[in-house]
Amino acid sequence: QRIVLIGAPTDIGAGARGASMGPEALRVADIKPILESHGLSVEDHGNLAGPTNPWLPPVAGYRHLAEVIEWNRAVHDAMLAALQAGQLPILLGGDHSLAVGSISAVARHCRAVGKKLRVLWLDAHADFNTSTITPSGNLHGMPVACLCGHGPAELVSMSDQVPAIEPWNIYQIGIRSVDQGEKRFVHEMGLDVFDMRFIDENGMRHTMEQALLGLDDNTHLHVSFDVDFLDPEIAPGVGTLVPGGPTYREAQLCMEMIADTGRLASLDVVELNPALDVRNKTADLAVDLIESLFGKSTLMRRS
Ligand code: ARG
Ligand code: MN
Ligand code: MN
Ligand code: MN
Repeated sequence: QRIVLIGAPTDIGAGARGASMGPEALRVADIKPILESHGLSVEDHGNLAGPTNPWLPPVAGYRHLAEVIEWNRAVHDAMLAALQAGQLPILLGGDHSLAVGSISAVARHCRAVGKKLRVLWLDAHADFNTSTITPSGNLHGMPVACLCGHGPAELVSMSDQVPAIEPWNIYQIGIRSVDQGEKRFVHEMGLDVFDMRFIDENGMRHTMEQALLGLDDNTHLHVSFDVDFLDPEIAPGVGTLVPGGPTYREAQLCMEMIADTGRLASLDVVELNPALDVRNKTADLAVDLIESLFGKSTLMRRS
């Protein structure tokens, strides 16, 4: 299967500038040749275009809403085209607001071909805010709520139906920062959240076993990888770092267990912020983990 890289160089939904340089940092970290070294076929479609960041304060609870919509339309269309061509798209973000366009396309495609969808949301944050409960107005804190039908009409209705996905098809892993109102809303909507406490108590192995339970040949697995999922000690190059994330070993195991399912069919890599990184080490780490996500393992393994 052919992997396609789709760059979306924007920080339009974030609270810090710099995630717009994410796609290039991942290329500099050799994402393409490294995936190719594992026998995968990879095509780089280059970068999408969209509005520049005007860096304005929020209006009615949303910062840069018009620009976020425009970027998400471009992401939606590019992701959908790749899926329809039978390719495995990797969205190189860009901030996490882009997951609205990306996952709206994935959900639309799954319904068209009769596949079940499961989303693994790897993140320090639940990204489940709305305009009334957000502390910041930053749309990268709202994509999961939008996908579940709560948010501005243009984002909520980007897929072929509203909501784009049902909350029970999203599994969040690594969560450790949820705002007050957001906490209540996550609970109300019944999201499956494997927060850091769950991982501490049960270990990454058991956590992933739970999150991957019940996948079958007809399941499309989408991973939305917010780089701030990782502990900031190993991944400083993000705008919203939260201490106490998964270690290098835990993150590797997480990726390897996803790879073992053989069901990965689309991926977002978002929130990488090269302006805050140290000699591109967070990009290098992200690529290292993506290798594992695509099946790199230390030894030949028996199933
Ligand atoms: N919860 C905070 C907010 O709404 C932070 C969100 C961070 N999201 C992210 N994708 N990094 O502003
Ligand atoms: Mn995050
Ligand atoms: Mn996020
Ligand atoms: Mn490596």
